[in-house]
Amino acid sequence: MTLAPMTPNKTPLTGPVLAIESSCDETACAILTPDGTILAQRVVSQEGHADFGGVVPEIAARAHLSLLPHLVSATLAEAHLAPSALALIAASTGPGLIGGLIVGSSFAKGLALALNIPFIAVNHVEAHALTARIPHLLPYEVPFPYLLLLVSGGHCQCIAVEDIGVYRKLGGTLDDAVGETFDKVAKMLGLGWPGGPMLEKLAQEGHASIPLPRPLLQREGCDFSFSGLKTAIAQKLMPYGQEPLPRPFAADLAASFQQAVADIIADRITHALNKMPQAKVLVAAGGVAANHLIRTTLEKTADQHGLRALIPPPRLCTDNAVMVAWAALETWHKASQHHQTPFTDIATRPRPRWPLEEMAQRFTL
Ligand code: KG4
Ligand code: ZN
Repeated sequence: MTLAPMTPNKTPLTGPVLAIESSCDETACAILTPDGTILAQRVVSQEGHADFGGVVPEIAARAHLSLLPHLVSATLAEAHLAPSALALIAASTGPGLIGGLIVGSSFAKGLALALNIPFIAVNHVEAHALTARIPHLLPYEVPFPYLLLLVSGGHCQCIAVEDIGVYRKLGGTLDDAVGETFDKVAKMLGLGWPGGPMLEKLAQEGHASIPLPRPLLQREGCDFSFSGLKTAIAQKLMPYGQEPLPRPFAADLAASFQQAVADIIADRITHALNKMPQAKVLVAAGGVAANHLIRTTLEKTADQHGLRALIPPPRLCTDNAVMVAWAALETWHKASQHHQTPFTDIATRPRPRWPLEEMAQRFTL
């Protein structure tokens, strides 16, 4: 299938957009031109959570508060811009940890009010969903409709992306998210946190030789379940009790787990495509899409269905502010086509839950 090269959007904005991401434990800021060119981007992965084996919401919120002023100044300096040059401010306003969302969106709204420019509230999941459409990021245009596999620490969903703001959930996890499962299995194997990247590294030393279940494989629909896989791993570890695991065994178990996840994802994607035969491409997003085996599995699966898999580079799969800025630009651009400019979300409150299906309301006149 041949796709046209990416062309930049045209928007009526007269200056760059500055965006803030603070929905979990990454504090990030980015500045993009109206056509989506990245002028500057910074991500700080917070410290202080690893000792607790997971993100501590209170620590995260406090860290966002102390990191943001310097991070925003440094991002502006990197872009060689004065704040007065900005035309739009955006922030992740949900879903996520409420403390961090309040800190990031309040900071962003304060900036917008001080500069007297609009503020766009960005849905974090929508930002992941639209990342692949950033101009010049991938060699091919990402046309609507596309099938999105969102696999992060908190989300595991197959979504039909029909247009900006128009999303239909095809299936999701019945228990843990994929990233969460990677983190929990990594913990069982005695690895640090976040576990996904560490487990991937260990798996490179091993072979996928240990039989493990693949829950829901070949079942109708495209829901996911990982609890049976986690339990099977716990059973394999039982004979070792509190003893340290032999490294080769841990590596084989990591490789076998990763292969099981890849097989599950390939199967679920195949079923999702049955529900969405009009899909033009397969797009992946979220932290787990940074995993090499998952990426190659998605490419193979897409190929088998005559589609192209378009996956953003790993640094834009994990949480970042570039995706937030881009989602704000897409929203702004579409809203301006609907003659809704100038508009601002200054009164929008941060939300720990914010279903994607609600995004369409924004464009109903
Ligand atoms: O999208 P993300 O940065 O934050 C959320 O919105 O959750 O995803 C973080 C998740 C974590 O669970 C982390 O372990 C997982 O993505 N992850 C990976 C890899 N890199 C990050 N999982 C598997 N392999 C990786 N290379
Ligand atoms: Zn995320």
